[in-house]
Amino acid sequence: MIVMETKNLGKIYSFDSIKVTALNNVSIQINQGEIVGIMGPSGSGKSTLMNLVGCLDRPSQGEIWIAGSRVDNLNDNNLAIIRSKQVGFVFQNYNLLPRLKVIENVELPLIYQGVPSHLRRKKADEVLERIGLKERMHHKPSQISGGEQQRVALARALVTNPSFILADEPTGNLDSKTGKEIIKLLQDLNNGGVTVLLITHDRFVAEHTARVIHLKDGEVIENEALPNPIREV
Ligand SMILES: Nc1ncnc2c1ncn2[C@@H]1O[C@H](COP(=O)(O)OP(=O)(O)O)[C@@H](O)[C@H]1O
Ligand SMILES: [Mg+2]
Repeated sequence: MIVMETKNLGKIYSFDSIKVTALNNVSIQINQGEIVGIMGPSGSGKSTLMNLVGCLDRPSQGEIWIAGSRVDNLNDNNLAIIRSKQVGFVFQNYNLLPRLKVIENVELPLIYQGVPSHLRRKKADEVLERIGLKERMHHKPSQISGGEQQRVALARALVTNPSFILADEPTGNLDSKTGKEIIKLLQDLNNGGVTVLLITHDRFVAEHTARVIHLKDGEVIENEALPNPIREV
């Protein structure tokens, strides 16, 4: 089953009279349960693609389909609903709220969804258990390590049971050992059925996925199957 698809996606940023074509004619398909890398050098359009398929921005051309529904033509409210239900975001800099405890950060997407508090706490608890951070639930982000903060961000991304996880350079701020732990966690989650899109400029990181979509100058230049992904242990 296809969980996310783009058809001839294009994005042009314009300011004053200057136009920048950030994406051109990008057609990709992600199947349920896949772990896919999106790779390209700086400026190749990776973040633009993430913003579009994550329903944070709208394309200039083309279509985006998530879980069988077309989303690029939705109004802001409906786009926000799709984003909150279908997409789990993980960013390079974790993006946790510093004043909230770990458990409260994980609960946040459920607050936006209007989930009642007892159910929120239960779900956040379960997902923290799943990623092995339950003992840190009452800490503030500043009281835990970078790797742990990224695991909290992953828990927050998972708590809504999204159609897919969009991780943009999730290991970019971490040392290589901690980065490998995060990649291993993504692989383990994928083994458990979670669909993962891993955006990176780093070949070594991308080689942990089963398929790599290569971007250059806003276009897909290669769709590379990796029969033997690196497995972190
Ligand atoms: N908000 C924006 N306004 C204008 N140009 C942008 C904007 N965001 C990105 N770009 C341009 O679009 C291209 C792709 O950028 P981006 O998607 O950030 O690439 P990557 O994430 O691969 O580094 C680059 O040329 C970049 O300068
Ligand atoms: Mg980027």
